[in-house]
Amino acid sequence: MASTESPQTIRGSFPDDFTFGVATSSWQIEGSSATRAESIWDRFAKIPGAIVDGSSADPACDHLNRVEEDVDLIGQLGVGAYRFSVSWPRFMPGGTGAASRSGAGFYDRLIDLLLERGIQPLLTAYHWDLPQSLQESGGWLHPDMPHWFADYCQALGERYGDRVSHIATLNEPWVSAFLGYAAGIHAPGVVNAGQALEVAYRLMVASGHGVSALRNAGVGNPGIVLNLTTVRSEDPGAEKARDHIDRLQNTLFTDLLAGRGVSDAVRRSTDILTDWSFVTDEGVEAAATPISWLGVNYYTPIRVALPRESDQTAGVGQDTVVYPACPPASLQPRGPLTTMGWEVDPKGLRDTLVETAAALPGLPLWVTENGAAYADRVLDGDVYDPDRISYLSGHLAAAAEAIDEGVPLQGYCAWSLMDNLEWAEGRTQTFGLVHVDPETMQRIPKASFHFYADIAKGER
Ligand code: FCB
Repeated sequence: MASTESPQTIRGSFPDDFTFGVATSSWQIEGSSATRAESIWDRFAKIPGAIVDGSSADPACDHLNRVEEDVDLIGQLGVGAYRFSVSWPRFMPGGTGAASRSGAGFYDRLIDLLLERGIQPLLTAYHWDLPQSLQESGGWLHPDMPHWFADYCQALGERYGDRVSHIATLNEPWVSAFLGYAAGIHAPGVVNAGQALEVAYRLMVASGHGVSALRNAGVGNPGIVLNLTTVRSEDPGAEKARDHIDRLQNTLFTDLLAGRGVSDAVRRSTDILTDWSFVTDEGVEAAATPISWLGVNYYTPIRVALPRESDQTAGVGQDTVVYPACPPASLQPRGPLTTMGWEVDPKGLRDTLVETAAALPGLPLWVTENGAAYADRVLDGDVYDPDRISYLSGHLAAAAEAIDEGVPLQGYCAWSLMDNLEWAEGRTQTFGLVHVDPETMQRIPKASFHFYADIAKGER
């Protein structure tokens, strides 16, 4: 593993006005599900085996009742920004219509607590917890969904736009579409690859409508967050699979944002699944509604190899089934791996940022998530997590390198503030800078928290 740089060296390799932040999402931390409407993740979590350890939305990190303590922790971390998501079923329990007083009020309070401490709120409108009622009406496949989503974004903008300048419409539409509708390992748990492609497109159309609604409501900087990554292959014969994966993971989304629509290459390589007849000129135009910034979530590269007898690795999401119609291939991450089975490759972050800047020239970028799951242990009241420190050090160095190469990167958010509900992996995967005791909810800042605090607060 790469050697760890000192916090001062890392801070010194970034421009003065660079923002260091930390991220979470609503379903993963809030708890208190009884005080909001049901989301697709609550419903999904009830399917036996859907979440490996049987976790549900409660108590998560009990953040709803501990918001002050948690914002204090963010303050101690000394970061300039906090990325969180609004739970749609908490803010607008009917899915459409009126906002809930208490639900909307919770985020007012969170935002005010952040601003009091000089921390910039970065709000994500949709981090996967769709109101179950909208799912039952057809979810992202319903033709009215772009309008429902735009109304929701408009309401968020009107409520918070005076205090929040950066609002992302969606978090990782690739995950919603391909893990939710092709692999069925995320909510809503559908296995229908043709629908997955349609959902991916419709999410991007809805996002464009959301961007317009946010601007109308006076939000200065609407954006979107994608999980883009570099796709590598050294196996002769695996090039076709590599290209296919790159198209579904990256260019399908960046092309739509750039106004290039759905490319012939994507259409050809998925024609056994769909004829793409749902794509319209209006939809392509909406998806390309200009954004002010793009968030990139990066954890690991994708390493494509020829099919192997035993796909022994099977890291989370490391399976060609998540890329429908992929030519025969296998995904073979190389060590060192995190407990997610994800390869640690800081250069992959540099490459991803450089490739993204080339696909969308001039667009300001943020790394909106980056981090690692390791099996931490509390020893004498402390958590010593050198692997996470090394991961952060390497990836921050890679981000600084991308800036040196001309990438307009403005900020970096570590994932995550605290150990939380890692979706289908439940509590078994811990990404936090802060350890959360699953029984007592006690928060213990890990060694990586102190390391990152020294960077965030560091003098140059
Ligand atoms: C990303 C998600 C985030 C978290 C990390 C580990 O795909 O956006 O909520 O689960 O992965």
